[in-house]
Amino acid sequence: LPIDASGVWRYRDLLPILKDENNAVTLREGNTPLYDLPRTSKLLGLDFLLTKHQGMNPTGSFKDTGMTTALSVAAERGYKWVACASTGNTSAAMAAYAARAGLRAIVFIPEGKIAWGKLSQSMDYGALTVQLKTDFDGCVKLLTEIVRKNPIYLLNSVNPYRLEGQKTPAIEICEQLDWQVPDHVIVPGGNLANGSALGKGFTELKHLGFIDRVPKISVIQAAGANPLFQWFTNEEKQLHPVTADTRATAIRIGNPASWRKAARVIEATGGWCEQADENEIAVAKAQIGAEGIGCEPASAVTLAGLKKLLKSGHVQTGERVVLLLTGHTLKDPEYTIDFHKDLLATDVAEAAPYRRPPLVLDANESSVMRALEAEMAG
Ligand code: F0G
Repeated sequence: LPIDASGVWRYRDLLPILKDENNAVTLREGNTPLYDLPRTSKLLGLDFLLTKHQGMNPTGSFKDTGMTTALSVAAERGYKWVACASTGNTSAAMAAYAARAGLRAIVFIPEGKIAWGKLSQSMDYGALTVQLKTDFDGCVKLLTEIVRKNPIYLLNSVNPYRLEGQKTPAIEICEQLDWQVPDHVIVPGGNLANGSALGKGFTELKHLGFIDRVPKISVIQAAGANPLFQWFTNEEKQLHPVTADTRATAIRIGNPASWRKAARVIEATGGWCEQADENEIAVAKAQIGAEGIGCEPASAVTLAGLKKLLKSGHVQTGERVVLLLTGHTLKDPEYTIDFHKDLLATDVAEAAPYRRPPLVLDANESSVMRALEAEMAG
């Protein structure tokens, strides 16, 4: 079956979603690699640090795992149109899966606030791309009104079938580690569906007896978009939305839809919530890049957060840690180039060893050799 090639649908016994499996819309998502980070582990004094790289999915982000399930439902139920508000990755994934299924897609994105790679994907896959003069939270608000009044299937992560697909990386992680559950799984937090979905995945595996405990799931937010972090540190009952601002545009979200689920997962698993500022995100992203792996800025908050959890003692150096990398480095090349050209506001010493500004040289051997010798001497 084609769906056996999908890292999501091979767990279909745990995905009670479709009436007929043949209706699955798949692009061979899932089956993503677990990479080690040898230099970073050494730097942090950790023996066991792996990354589950969800950026290695067909459209370059973890959203594919949830889109294959939710879009299959839309197709099976006969919808002609699907829609989402997005910071760019959900829209890229939705556009691709809609195209495969022959459905029309409309995406709402905040104008000027998503990475170029993601914007181009939505157009490449043929979606109706609407750039709204607002932020992500404003996009969600307007779209909610529009789908209420029209026969359009909503594919934001409030859609429960999204979470079903997005729980499958939890199963893959356990399988790849021969069912030796890690002590910690660390995820970025934006709209807060991903942490929720992974919590669901691990919890179901425990209920089914595949694993005997659930890892501590910690959520890391950008300091400029940190409503869950504020809720967590102030021990408040209610989450207070914030006005979000960060160059990690994927998680530039001030009013996260799934905050209660994510909060429950953190509490139930004994995980923690942290935040990372713009400097910390940039350095962490450069470190992951320098391991030959790379990721987008929003994914790098996991490493930035891990450093803080180690400092505060919530993660111990002897423990087994998995970072969830959510998006591919090519999603946001502008950010990477700005970092290396020193155009981000990364005024910290830790950034300097990772900077590789591109050289512009005269096209002759001596000028190249001078540059090479300077680099070798340095
Ligand atoms: N990392 C990346 C690369 C993302 O694109 C997102 C969310 C997150 C982390 C956060 O995940 O929202 O489940 O907490 N992107 C959404 C989008 C909002 O529209 O693409 P979350």
